[in-house]
Amino acid sequence: MMMQVSSAAPAKRIVFGISGGIAAYKAAELARLWVKKAITIDVVMTAAACRFITPLTMHALSGRPVWQDLWHAPDSSMNHIALSRGADAIVVAPASANFLARLAQGRADDLLSALCLARECPLLVAPAMNTQMWRNPATQRNVSLLRSDGVFFLGPDSGELACGETGEGRMLTPENIAAAVERIIWSPDHEKSATLKGRNVLITAGPTFEAIDPVRGLTNRSSGKMGFALAEAAALAGANVTLIAGPVHQPTPLNVMRVNVISASDMADAVFARAKGTDIFIGVAAVADYTPTHVADHKLKKNEINHLDLALTATVDILDELGRRTPHVFRVGFAAETQNIRQFGEEKRRRKQLPMLIVNQAQEAFGADDNEVAILDDHGFHALPRMAKTTLAKCLIQEIAQRFEQKD
Ligand code: CTP
Repeated sequence: MMMQVSSAAPAKRIVFGISGGIAAYKAAELARLWVKKAITIDVVMTAAACRFITPLTMHALSGRPVWQDLWHAPDSSMNHIALSRGADAIVVAPASANFLARLAQGRADDLLSALCLARECPLLVAPAMNTQMWRNPATQRNVSLLRSDGVFFLGPDSGELACGETGEGRMLTPENIAAAVERIIWSPDHEKSATLKGRNVLITAGPTFEAIDPVRGLTNRSSGKMGFALAEAAALAGANVTLIAGPVHQPTPLNVMRVNVISASDMADAVFARAKGTDIFIGVAAVADYTPTHVADHKLKKNEINHLDLALTATVDILDELGRRTPHVFRVGFAAETQNIRQFGEEKRRRKQLPMLIVNQAQEAFGADDNEVAILDDHGFHALPRMAKTTLAKCLIQEIAQRFEQKD
């Protein structure tokens, strides 16, 4: 009843690995999406994956044999090496913490890990696990190692998890995984623009939120779109990207390590903790300049006060302080100005001693999908035409990479 692998090479073929985790149920939907797009999928399941979703389901959806056993391949020509030969990519979704650990160690003790080790094609993984497992230093070490080995990370996302908790570790949706694979594998430009290959890039994005009481706070207007687009563009240019994100509703960019923070102080801690190994820092976040000096334990009641004086304390300027602590980091600032863009921008660049500052008209940029900016550097003011934030991000990453290369 099992179909044989066709000898005529299909236009697009993915080896679809499934490791053990609740998110394995989403693998069925992902398989359906790929089959609908006429992409051939060869499903390989770990033993743990078979406890969450049956090989029969995956066989019915893919219309092809489902592979599980390193020692018992139904077709002898389809051994663990041959299965990935000619494939456009291996995509493992979900990738459990355990699977990532085995991958990082270069193990080959089951069919899926052996295939990954013996591959000639790109490997993409979509992690799915509990937040604590994801944040555990052991997992993060494995993720860094795999990234530096050239493994693409799709997510994880933040949100509600199967264990009932909320946080990082949720697998991207099947639609997002399919779109990401399409862009990485079949979009021609990511290899060509690998201008930041191996560089460690740290980016802040979104607003911060400074609590006044348990239900109120001070924040800045920022959708996070520009910072997230830059993070994605830097990753596509080959960088190892860590994105420190304030509270925003943006999906995690492909192949980017995301750290969620709330306040300016959290953001500063997250940045300084990672500063040492950083080559380039891009401060896109709209960081609150002031935070309430005292945070009320309980909700402030309107009827108790006719007049409210809020005492505020200045926050640390992350961009500025980073320059003092780690002068080796190439720092890029973003300035949102509402008037005198060129003059105020240049003053800010000099004050913070930045090699490069990107300025925009604040009111126009908020939440929009496009943006018009200018670059300020030692050679003056360079205006760029209005364009989509995603396109602009790619241009800016090239501009940053060029200046970074020339800095010495
Ligand atoms: N920035 C930062 N930490 C802060 C404030 C700002 O890292 N506490 C960074 C921003 O991420 C941005 C740059 O500094 O890259 C400029 O931010 P902007 O708000 O335009 O300028 P400020 O320095 O806050 O000055 P002002 O509000 O007076 O314009």
